[in-house]
Amino acid sequence: MSVARIQTPGELPEDDQDRSLRPRRLADFVGQESVRDQLSVSIEAAKARGDALDHVLLAGPPGLGKTSLAQIVAEELGVPFIQTAGPALERKGDVAAFLTALEPRAVFFVDEIHRLPRALEETFYPAMEDGQLPITVGQGAGARVVTLDLPPFTLVGATTRAGLLTTPLRDRFGIQHRLEHYDADDLGRIVTRSADLLGIEIDPLGAIAIAARSRGTPRVANRLLKRVRDYAEVRGDGVVTEQVAAHALDLLQVDHEGLDRLDRELLRAICEMFSGGPVGLSTLAVAVGEEQDTIEDVYEPYLLQRGLIERTPRGRVATVRAWRHLGIDPPSEGVKLF
Ligand SMILES: Nc1ncnc2c1ncn2[C@@H]1O[C@H](COP(=O)(O)OP(=O)(O)OP(=O)(O)O)[C@@H](O)[C@H]1O
Ligand SMILES: [Mg+2]
Repeated sequence: MSVARIQTPGELPEDDQDRSLRPRRLADFVGQESVRDQLSVSIEAAKARGDALDHVLLAGPPGLGKTSLAQIVAEELGVPFIQTAGPALERKGDVAAFLTALEPRAVFFVDEIHRLPRALEETFYPAMEDGQLPITVGQGAGARVVTLDLPPFTLVGATTRAGLLTTPLRDRFGIQHRLEHYDADDLGRIVTRSADLLGIEIDPLGAIAIAARSRGTPRVANRLLKRVRDYAEVRGDGVVTEQVAAHALDLLQVDHEGLDRLDRELLRAICEMFSGGPVGLSTLAVAVGEEQDTIEDVYEPYLLQRGLIERTPRGRVATVRAWRHLGIDPPSEGVKLF
C-alpha cells in the first residue's frame, strides 16, 4: 500500500483548476472567522512549543472547506500532509503502514472518518492518546503483541456526519470545529477571489448574483462561476455582469434560493406526493431516485438551513416557505405552520 494520496471512492480526480482555487494559507481562507482564529492560535502555540498540534476534527456539509483547512493546517505548521479516507482503511495493517511511515509532527488526514470500519477505531485510540501502536507478530501459539512507539503526529479527521462518530473516537480529538454554510458576503469574496485566479472579468454585482445562488457552499460557488463564465464567453463579451449571471443561472436551473432541480424535486415530492409530510427518508429517496446518504449529507442541510423543510421524529415535513417557493397552495388543512 502506498503512502501517497488515496482518492475517496466516487470522488473525481481534482483538475488543476480546482487545485489552483484551493486556499493555501489561513489568510486566504475566506469566512469561518471563529474557526480560523481558534486554529490560528492552536497552530501558533504548537509551533512555539515545537510540539505536534493536537488532533483536529472538522465537521460540516460537503464543499465547505474541510479538506482545504486540513491542508492549510499542515502548510501553516510546515509539516508533511498525508491523506487517506475512512473507507480506504480496511485492515489494521493499512493503518499501521500509514502511522509508522509518518514524519514527526506530520498531519495525517483521514477524510470521511465516520466511514472508518468500527474494528479499526480501536487501533486509533492508543495511537492518538499515547503515540503507541500495538501490533500482533507471528501466528497461532507463537503470536505475541509488540507495541511500537510512533512519532508524534496530528490526526485531522473530516466528516460530513459528526453524529456517526462513536463518542470514544470523538473525545480523542482535542480540537473540534464545525464549519457552517457561508453567508452571501463571504461567498461573494470567494467568487471574486476565484475569478481573479482564473482570469475571469467579473463585476461586483455579478459576483453577488452568483454568491446568492451558491447554497452557502464555496465548491458550488466555484462551479457556478465556471459555468457562468462559459455563458459570458458564448452569449456575451466574456464579462460576468449581474445580468449575464442571472441568465446563465436561470439556464442552469438554479433558482433564486440557490436550489437546483433535485432540491425542487425533493420539495415537490414532500408537498405533492406526501401532502407536506411527514415522510421518512427512505421513502423520499425512492420517490426522487437518489441515495439516502446523498439526500442527508448534500441536500437536506441546506434545505433545513433555509427553513424549507423540518426534521421531525416521524420524518421530513415541508414548511409553508417550501409551498410558497414551489408556487403551489398549501392544503387548507393539515399544513404545518412553522
Ligand atoms: N473558506 C474558503 N475560502 C476560499 N475557498 C474555499 C473555502 N472553502 C472552500 N473553498 C473552495 O471550495 C472547494 C471545496 O472545498 P473542500 O474540498 O475543502 O471542501 P470539503 O469540506 O472538504 O468537502 P467534502 O466534504 O466534499 O470533502 C475548494 O477547492 C476551494 O476552492
Ligand atoms: Mg473534502
